[in-house]
Amino acid sequence: MKIVVAGTGYVGLVTGACLSEIGHNVTCVDIDKNKVEMMKQGISPIYEPGLDELLKRNHDAGRLDFTIDYRNAYKDADLIFIGVGTPEREDGSANLDYVFNVCKQIVDNVKNDCLVVVKSTVPIGTNDKIEEYLKEKVKNNVNIEVASNPEFLAQGTAVVDTLYAKRIVIGVESKKAEVLLREVYKGYNQPIVATNRRSAEMIKYASNDFLALKISFMNEIANFCEMVGADIEDVAKGMSFDPRIGDKFLNAGIGYGGSCFPKDTKALHWLANDRGYELKTIKATIEVNENQKYKLFRQAKNRFGSLKGLKVAVLGLTFKPGTDDLREAPSIPNVRRLLDEGAQIVAYDPVGIDNFKRIYPSEITYANTPEETLKDADIAFIFTEWNEIKSLNLSVYEELMYTPIIFDGRNCYKIKETKERNVDYYSIGRKAVLNFEKHLEKEKEMEVAIGQ
Ligand code: UGA
Repeated sequence: MKIVVAGTGYVGLVTGACLSEIGHNVTCVDIDKNKVEMMKQGISPIYEPGLDELLKRNHDAGRLDFTIDYRNAYKDADLIFIGVGTPEREDGSANLDYVFNVCKQIVDNVKNDCLVVVKSTVPIGTNDKIEEYLKEKVKNNVNIEVASNPEFLAQGTAVVDTLYAKRIVIGVESKKAEVLLREVYKGYNQPIVATNRRSAEMIKYASNDFLALKISFMNEIANFCEMVGADIEDVAKGMSFDPRIGDKFLNAGIGYGGSCFPKDTKALHWLANDRGYELKTIKATIEVNENQKYKLFRQAKNRFGSLKGLKVAVLGLTFKPGTDDLREAPSIPNVRRLLDEGAQIVAYDPVGIDNFKRIYPSEITYANTPEETLKDADIAFIFTEWNEIKSLNLSVYEELMYTPIIFDGRNCYKIKETKERNVDYYSIGRKAVLNFEKHLEKEKEMEVAIGQ
């Protein structure tokens, strides 16, 4: 069967590459000629571990191709996967322009019966609308059907998440579509949940929003832990042994980012509101996350009063490790606030600097290593738990910083370790360690004693 994938972002490109890996013939369509040439050479336009190898291997084997010629690609396709973006509109609703652009190209060009498979995250009911549109507009007397097939891959682990997915969800309205999709996915040997289109669309939102809720819940418990002298890391560990809770997504931090959770929580909330229903848990999830982003900034402000003229080291820029994606990364608004306060910023990230430079080309300095970042700094903020940052010994902060005061938004260090060091360490859901401050006080006392 001939498979065409529209869109070569995280969802489209990984879907296409992985389907070719299990033996299908796949053509990926994109509008950007340069991108297409790059992909033909096995170079992925997005940073995603393992993807370059997949592109090269399957392109060389003749199973995976890339083109800007959508007319030819759609003409005789049996299946067309739509994996284009559905960004957030200003009011929180999902923007479906890219999806419908692809639909227009499909109806203008298909000459064979085909199944259009929507992988993009779309509001509940959209697949029905897409089918209505396609059936109404299609030329050439072709039979088109639509199936929902939401994607659950995470950035940074997209290839593994796809090749070893925990489940595949297919939303279909006919046996024919179900049989075809089961055939497509046979090679993965993964559990398939078959349901109707609206339930499939809802499974995607409910899954992402539940994970976001889990994070916001842990962030709130973390904030309360600080007030009552509990330690969120131990609390999460203690909870994780209960299989009903599980041990994933219990990490408190400075909030979730990325291209999915912020957008999908707002989209579902908007959708329910539009029907006159308030999703209270989702509303709270969004509010808690918004507040959490600035938690460490507020603590730094409380401690210093003014941050004007202070040298601030920023470690980690991307919304999570393993990706160069900065969408909704907490680093971006925090850097804005720090700059507005008059701080001087030096920033480091193992892969995110080029993208960050597009947002802050000249207002901050960029460093090549964590060590260079920390040199003579008054404060360090950790926004992403990259291995290069987590594995940095605390003695480096002690030795290189002017005043070793650390605000760690990802709990990279164990409290026990920080207590053994001459640092001040603020983290999430754990009592601050103020060894450096104590040391300073002692020094002052000694100076006074000597002076007397
Ligand atoms: C998320 C989902 O995990 C995927 O299943 C889904 O397919 C994808 O969205 C999507 O809809 O396309 P992703 O946004 O790539 O994937 O990243 P996650 O690993 O889920 O992390 C999202 C954010 O949550 C990150 O900022 C991360 O730092 C934060 N997070 C994650 C926490 O703060 N605590 C945790 O315990 C886990």
